[in-house]
Amino acid sequence: MFINRPRILRASPAIRSMVQETSLLPQQLIVPLFIVEGENLQEEISSLPGYFRRSLDRTLDEAAVVYDLGIRSVLLFVKCPDERKDNRGTEALRADGLMQRAIRAIRQQVPGLLVMTDVALDPYSSYGHDGIVSGEEIVNDATVDVLARMAVSHAEAGAQFVAPSDMMDGRIGGIRRALEKAGHHQTGIMSYSAKYASCFYGPFRDALDSAPGFGDKKTYQMDPANRREAIKEVLLDVEEGADIVMIKPALSYLDIIREVRNEVTVPVSAYQVSGEYAMIKAAAQKGWVNEEQAILETTLSIRRAGADLIATYFAKELVRLCR
Ligand code: PBG
Repeated sequence: MFINRPRILRASPAIRSMVQETSLLPQQLIVPLFIVEGENLQEEISSLPGYFRRSLDRTLDEAAVVYDLGIRSVLLFVKCPDERKDNRGTEALRADGLMQRAIRAIRQQVPGLLVMTDVALDPYSSYGHDGIVSGEEIVNDATVDVLARMAVSHAEAGAQFVAPSDMMDGRIGGIRRALEKAGHHQTGIMSYSAKYASCFYGPFRDALDSAPGFGDKKTYQMDPANRREAIKEVLLDVEEGADIVMIKPALSYLDIIREVRNEVTVPVSAYQVSGEYAMIKAAAQKGWVNEEQAILETTLSIRRAGADLIATYFAKELVRLCR
């Protein structure tokens, strides 16, 4: 007669910690930072309670704090003033634009930190779209040209990784070729490979004032109903030269994270997006879920699903919780 008692492995904190299959380390986290023009500014984002937009000087302080916690990378987003938005990404390409200045300053002040940058047109677009607009169309190839120039401009400023979040066809190849041509052989590409047309980006669009002015993003971001299409997008990006592939959002797409993890050999990251953060914050504020446990449970599940890296607004709290 065989007797099996699985609860033996759950009997005490000691044994539970010994047999824990998944863990979370500070260096597996990526911290999104929102930067605005100005000085000594730190504005709370109303739909992201406890999260801030900061001017560059305050961003540098934050980057140092993040580094001291053991986190090794930040993902930069900038807010572009309305009067500088257009349909060509002019502001995005300026060598002394806010993004380019931020990259240089962070590289100089916190040299150990890996600087990743968002490459997409929506914060700079008068239409709030991730590409150049013609009539009702988001034009693919002309957008890829601008994104490639944007990536080169970020690399020139010192970004070690560019992170295209636009979902245009062929942009990874376009960016890789442009980086090579400009002599940036060491710049990494973290591709938002499977990015879904999700309601969970709402608070982020508030943060950057980047909501689409007409229509939606369904002609470029993916249909939440689709699974095989995610694999197709990821494999194309790897072929075109992506170093890291990303799935976004995270919690509603754990199955996609797992399938992608099984399919490719490159590191897989997942973005726990603004709406995922906001939901936990709101429920915790109401006293309906325990915030710390919700943070740990969701991020551990993202890791368990197969993500090597997680971009999350909870990164700092997580480091403290995992100590
Ligand atoms: C834009 C971009 C978005 C996010 C990251 N880059 C929003 C969008 O596609 O509309 C969302 C991040 C988040 O919600 O936390 N290219």
